Amino acid sequence: MNEDKKVSKKPWDGRFIEATEKILEGFSASVHYDCRLYRQDIAGSKVHALMLARQGIISDKDADAIVNGLSEIEEEIESGDFVWSQELEDIHMNIEQALIERIGEAGKRLHTARSRNDQVATDSRLYLREEIDRLTGLLSLLQKALLHQARSHEDLILPGYTHLQRAQPVLWPHHMLAYFEMFMRDRDRLQDCRKRVNICPLGSAALAGTGFPIDREYVAEQLGFQGITANSLDAVSDRDFIIEFLATASIIMAHLSRLSEELIIWTSAEFSFVDLPDGFCTGSSIMPQKKNPDVPELVRGKTGRVYGSLMSLLTIIKGLPLAYNRDLQEDKEALFDTVDTVCASVEIMAAVVARLVPKEEHIHRTVTRGFLTATDLADYLVKKGMPFRQAHSVVGKAVLQCISQGKDLTDMSLEDLKAFSSLIDEEIFDVLSIEGSVGTRRCPGCTAPERVKEALAKAEKKIIYE
Ligand code: ARG
Repeated sequence: MNEDKKVSKKPWDGRFIEATEKILEGFSASVHYDCRLYRQDIAGSKVHALMLARQGIISDKDADAIVNGLSEIEEEIESGDFVWSQELEDIHMNIEQALIERIGEAGKRLHTARSRNDQVATDSRLYLREEIDRLTGLLSLLQKALLHQARSHEDLILPGYTHLQRAQPVLWPHHMLAYFEMFMRDRDRLQDCRKRVNICPLGSAALAGTGFPIDREYVAEQLGFQGITANSLDAVSDRDFIIEFLATASIIMAHLSRLSEELIIWTSAEFSFVDLPDGFCTGSSIMPQKKNPDVPELVRGKTGRVYGSLMSLLTIIKGLPLAYNRDLQEDKEALFDTVDTVCASVEIMAAVVARLVPKEEHIHRTVTRGFLTATDLADYLVKKGMPFRQAHSVVGKAVLQCISQGKDLTDMSLEDLKAFSSLIDEEIFDVLSIEGSVGTRRCPGCTAPERVKEALAKAEKKIIYE
């Protein structure tokens, strides 16, 4: 055995004659990104050590030394003085080696009854649990911004669209509350996902569990987990808790992307429905007149990378036999990038939404042109006894004539309108007004002012008392 050839100490040195090739060290190292898990790794190790002592597997003295040593290492990491080593591959071996260097023999006992396989699964779950809570808070901020917008322009009526063609008038707060609902469901999904994240795999060891008399329940409780995993093989190789999160994050991004798309359209000169504050826009290096909606564009663009991460994880696990496989290390960059992307996107969209300024005059001009109350005319005829299909056709003919004359329905005289149906009376002009149109839509969940008021109050209550 050529000791000189060995450059670094590896935990598996006993079995190996040759040193690890540098090219492999570079290829397999994850410490440059999984160092992000240091707090979780240290918290898990401390509880593991205390449990080992409680169970008489290591001495109290050793456990104390381990816990203190880990606290010092944590401080060193936080102060930026800790030197990460690629040769030590990952966060787990870096911290363990630092502990051994610091406290000697006792440090070598920490990994009793544990494997990096259950350790990394535990760290990831602790990390994700925290990030789910942070993301939930950010979503709540975005919801508050939507409610603020809704309250600030409670009576504003804007065109509602289908196929991006003007369809029927809706209240501005009704439109804002549509997004509020989407983000509420996203939060529900996150809470549901959190239940499955918050289970402790520690004690599953490499794959088959351990012969030491460990106390898994104690460890789980100390780390704030709600229970322990039921099967050691599953526990070390399960990443579906991450996939669920990535799927939920993908839906959040889809919702943000829809909102973004709307803001992009709304800020165009063609729509001119809202103004974004200068501080959230950029200009052009060549065209002096430009003010571009970069924030929503970037959010729409970043949606792609989150979907990509979901696809990565689904693909990574699809061919893996039980139990742990090194492929699983590839989960982390996708997870971290998703957490960063979705949190940053929600946070900035909350700021943008809070400061949106609707251009009320222009919106009003748009909503009063383009036959948005044609359905109301048809419904009016139905209420007077005409079958809906017939009413639809009668109004269609009236619209056609208006188009050929460059008019709107409200530009027609009562006589002109009566020519299409003798059922039409002078109250028709109230029916054709945008206020009349939204006012009739009084079913639960619809856009009538009293329904929207109720919905807004309910939404505010949810957010205030959460
Ligand atoms: N860095 C590894 C990962 O993220 C930790 C587990 C390694 N286990 C192993 N048996 N090589 O998956």
